[in-house]
Amino acid sequence: MGGHAVRVAVICSWIVQFTAQAEDPSRRAGDADWARGLCSRSYVDAYTGTARSFERHLPLSVLERCKKQTPSKGSWIWEGRNWCWEAVKRRACYGHHSWQDAQRMAAEDKEAPRLEDLLLPALQDAERCDVPKLGASLEPDPPSQGLLLPEREDRVQDEQKYVNYQIEAHEAEFWFQRHVAVYVLNLPTATDRWSRISRRLEELQIHAVRVPGIDLSGPGAIQQAQEEGLVPLQWNFSAAKQNMVRLLQNSSEAAARRYLDNYGRGTVGCAAAHLRAMWQAASNAHRLEKPLALILEDDVMLEDDFKLKLRRLLRTEAPCDWEVISLRSQCPYGVCVSPHLTRVQPDANEPEEMCRHGVNYGFYAMVYRADSLISIANKLHQRIWDEARPGCLANDVALASLAEEVVYYAVPSSQAVCRVFSGEPDRNLTGHLGALRNHASLAFFFLLLMPDPSRLGEPVTATVHTTTAATVTAFKSCLFRFISLLSLLKRRACELCAVASQVPGFLDHGDGFGSATRQTAAA
Ligand SMILES: *[C@@H]1O[C@H](CO)[C@@H](O)[C@H](O)[C@H]1NC(C)=O
Ligand SMILES: *[C@@H]1O[C@H](CO)[C@@H](O)[C@H](O)[C@H]1NC(C)=O
Ligand SMILES: *[C@@H]1O[C@H](CO)[C@@H](O)[C@H](O)[C@H]1NC(C)=O
Repeated sequence: MGGHAVRVAVICSWIVQFTAQAEDPSRRAGDADWARGLCSRSYVDAYTGTARSFERHLPLSVLERCKKQTPSKGSWIWEGRNWCWEAVKRRACYGHHSWQDAQRMAAEDKEAPRLEDLLLPALQDAERCDVPKLGASLEPDPPSQGLLLPEREDRVQDEQKYVNYQIEAHEAEFWFQRHVAVYVLNLPTATDRWSRISRRLEELQIHAVRVPGIDLSGPGAIQQAQEEGLVPLQWNFSAAKQNMVRLLQNSSEAAARRYLDNYGRGTVGCAAAHLRAMWQAASNAHRLEKPLALILEDDVMLEDDFKLKLRRLLRTEAPCDWEVISLRSQCPYGVCVSPHLTRVQPDANEPEEMCRHGVNYGFYAMVYRADSLISIANKLHQRIWDEARPGCLANDVALASLAEEVVYYAVPSSQAVCRVFSGEPDRNLTGHLGALRNHASLAFFFLLLMPDPSRLGEPVTATVHTTTAATVTAFKSCLFRFISLLSLLKRRACELCAVASQVPGFLDHGDGFGSATRQTAAA
């Protein structure tokens, strides 16, 4: 009898719930997107992109001390600036440091509070996603077959994991083909970059459209770009520069000069090129009937399991309100939403006049909802071509400052893939740094499965791929018995990763795209 009542109650509540859902159009849209694998329903409107400063988060004494601290040489001066924050940002914005590492470094130089005292809340809930080891590869080892077999139970589990991964990879191929249009920004003169990235995309069976980059370095190039409609006609570069000089009036001359140099023609060209790619993607979207557009800069290398990771990220982590996701964001500001995703928030510690300069560096690999492309491009266009706010000329800084109006998420760059160090961990450090340099932009995607404590670390996994099958089997079986040694190796590899990312210019993208060319402007 009781059972019957319960059943009725369950059915009633189900009907009520169902009708409630059916009546909410945004929820229905969310459901449709979820069904197509474009977002995860588990996060409903829980995060907002409201601008946030540290004022309410830090003790008054710390705030006062940070504001009174001597500004570091070469940084731009503004009344009431938090100099601890400036020092931490300067270290976090290049390479792939976590905020914690950046603050540790700043604290060693006595420019920021010690971690034992407090962590500046650049990312809220940072422990959830600002964690380097979340960046490792997802691919499980092929199941062992050699002489030194692991325990039977382990073996069955391994096989199951491996098979599941293969199935998911196939599904992801199909999903990607159906839902994602890919564009690559590439200067017509940079043919070597084009051949490198197109080779890689071919390997991954990704078809991409080449969007010409915009080189404004020549004399009269800006004017020509204006005539071609790539840069608005009424936008006045000299006026923007004059405003910058005015905003930097209290900064040292060297700082002002450096800042101005960094906001040169390269930045204008980069911004114009990204906007061009966005508009092109928007105008193709209807014909292609693909709900997502991925815009890549030509110096990124995609991971082997890129498609699988992207699909998993969207299906299991991305809240349904998302409009744009940066797949690799340096110094990401906001809140950790899930293990691999942050909701970007404008940094209200920095003045609006300076475009809240600057967090969330990089436009390496941006995924847009096709439906939102025009609206994002329009907002970005207005923000970038605003002479009164010349700091917004950098497209990445501009988009971060727009996070209240654009639903912008980002994968932290601290989630580096360490596996380039696999093999011989310390035989040739120069070689490893060289390898990392080549793979610098590769190191931008992540691992969803935390390594099981009874299993092995990543560097070893990669070794497996590069040795012959027989060695692999023997080697792998041994590994099961030397877990402690291996976790040591893993730690070592990650240390190397941290060292490498401190090498100056390590992420320099030269003449191409990306904010790394504005390195010094961070301060
Ligand atoms: C520069 O300093 C003057 C005097 O302290 C102040 O009034 C002005 O607001 C400052 N300007 C900026 C952009 O910080
Ligand atoms: C651009 O701005 C500069 C400085 O404000 C001004 O002298 C110049 O006349 C402007 N050019 C145009 C075409 O408006
Ligand atoms: C280290 O690696 C670099 C780059 O691969 C190579 O040129 C160099 O010869 C290597 N050095 C040694 C000692 O193996």
